[in-house]
Amino acid sequence: MNRFEGRVGLITGGASGIGKATALRIASEGGTVVIADLQDDAGKAVASQIEGDGGRAGYVHLDVTSEQGWADAVAETLSMFGRLDVLVNNAGIGDTEPLEVTTSDTWNKVVAVTQTSVFLGMKAAADALKASGNGSVVNVSSMYGIVGSGVSPAYHAAKGAVRLLTKTTALGWATEGVRVNSVHPGFIDTPILGDTDRDMLIAGTPMGRLGRPEEMASLIAFVASDDASFATGAEFVADGGYTAR
Ligand SMILES: NC(=O)c1ccc[n+]([C@@H]2O[C@H](COP(=O)([O-])OP(=O)(O)OC[C@H]3O[C@@H](n4cnc5c(N)ncnc54)[C@H](O)[C@@H]3O)[C@@H](O)[C@H]2O)c1
Repeated sequence: MNRFEGRVGLITGGASGIGKATALRIASEGGTVVIADLQDDAGKAVASQIEGDGGRAGYVHLDVTSEQGWADAVAETLSMFGRLDVLVNNAGIGDTEPLEVTTSDTWNKVVAVTQTSVFLGMKAAADALKASGNGSVVNVSSMYGIVGSGVSPAYHAAKGAVRLLTKTTALGWATEGVRVNSVHPGFIDTPILGDTDRDMLIAGTPMGRLGRPEEMASLIAFVASDDASFATGAEFVADGGYTAR
C-alpha cells in the first residue's frame, strides 16, 4: 500500500510507543514523516531508521505545550518538505491519583501536555493543512476520554476535551478540505504504562491482552488516509472491548 505517497505527516510524541509505530507505519506506506518530541536521541533514531529503510523523515525538537515551539515545528516541516498533509497529535502524559490528592501542578501539567497541545497544534498547522487540499488530523485521545476510571482526573478531563475539540474543529473545517478525527486506545503496551500492574490491565480488558502500538498505528493510518475520506468529527475506538460493556 502507498496511501501516503506524496504526503507529509507531523507526528508528536513520535520518539516512543504509539507515535513511533505510527511514524514507521506511515513511512512504510510512502509518506514523509516529521517526528516531533522532547526525546531528541530517540526521535532522531526513528527518523534514521526510516531513512535507512529508504524512506524520507525528519526530526524536530518540540515541547507541545509551547505555542512558539509549534510555530517553529510547522515552519521547519514546511522548509524541509514543502507541505503538511497529516497531523497526528499523539504526545500525552497521564496522572494516576484520586482527585483529592491531585495537585494543581499535576492538573496543569497534564492538561497542558495532553489537551492544550492539541489546540496549539491544530492552530499552528491550520493554514498548511488547508493548503494541502487534502488534510487530515488525528488526535490521539483514549478510551479514558469516553469513560471514567475513578482516578486520574486530569487525564480523563484532558482526553474528554480532546474528543470534543476534535468534533468542533471538524465541523469548522468540514468544507476546508481538512478532516479531523479522534482515536481512542485502550491499554497499549508502551512506556507510558510505567510500573502499572499489567496483569490488572489485562484482566480488565475483554480480549484478555494489552494492545500493541502497531495495532494503534494501523488504525491511525487508516483514519489519516483517504480510506477514511468521508469520516470527520468521528471517534475510533480500539480497546480490546473495554468500552463495549
Ligand atoms: N499506552 C496506552 O495504554 C494508552 C492508552 C490510551 C491513550 N494513550 C495515549 O497515546 C498517546 C501516546 O502514548 P504512548 O502510549 O505511546 O506513550 P509513550 O510514553 O511511549 O509516548 C509518549 C511520547 O510523548 C512524548 N512527550 C511527552 N510530553 C511531551 C511534550 N511536552 N512535548 C513533546 N512530546 C512529549 C514523550 O517523550 C514520548 O515520546 C498519549 O497521548 C497517550 O495518552 C495511550
